Amino acid sequence: MGYIKWLGHSAFEILLDNKILYIDPWISNPKSPIKLQDISKADYIFITHDHGDHFGESVEIAKKTNATIVGIYEIANKASQLGVKKTIGGNIGGPIFLEENLITYLVPAFHSSLTGTPTGIIIRGNEKTIYHAGDTGVFGDMAIIHELYKPDIALIPIGGHYTMGPFEAAKAVELLKPEIVIPMHYGTFPVLSGTPEQLKKFIEERGIDVKIVVLKPGESYNF
Ligand code: NI
Ligand code: MN
Repeated sequence: MGYIKWLGHSAFEILLDNKILYIDPWISNPKSPIKLQDISKADYIFITHDHGDHFGESVEIAKKTNATIVGIYEIANKASQLGVKKTIGGNIGGPIFLEENLITYLVPAFHSSLTGTPTGIIIRGNEKTIYHAGDTGVFGDMAIIHELYKPDIALIPIGGHYTMGPFEAAKAVELLKPEIVIPMHYGTFPVLSGTPEQLKKFIEERGIDVKIVVLKPGESYNF
């Protein structure tokens, strides 16, 4: 039994195989249902890239929970320079073994960053394989992500302007073939104008068989 709780923007709290995971925890985002002081326990914090709306309060959370920060090598370095005790820096490629049955893979994301390259993150546990796309446009090698890792649940940006919009995100879903798609990175600011309704329309037009789970900030998808 686990859950994926949306904390607004690209921030998620995930319970997977009894581990508490955060991805891109920008907890001070305008739609966040929680505050930093509400977080008391975390095992791993994943960061897709160094933009403030993704790096967020990672360091503060790691310091108060003793969680391990996981991301591309340069991000892990930055976190340890900022005083985080436990970091795991990897790179795009093969498995990064966090625990015996908890594996992460850093995968490409087409975006920008000052600290290393931006990534998407795949987290594979016993219960589920989850893909967080980070900030990215759609790209054809999402088909390889499906072929190699078969993510059950895909967390996909749909806001447009800095990432895919709904039209491109529907193509991403076609390539990734997840069972569940959860849209993110929309509605935080007016410029992130893509909506889940538009995503639904484009997914229907493509005839894709997928369950679209639209969360409000603070809501969870349970598995
Ligand atoms: Ni970004
Ligand atoms: Mn972003």
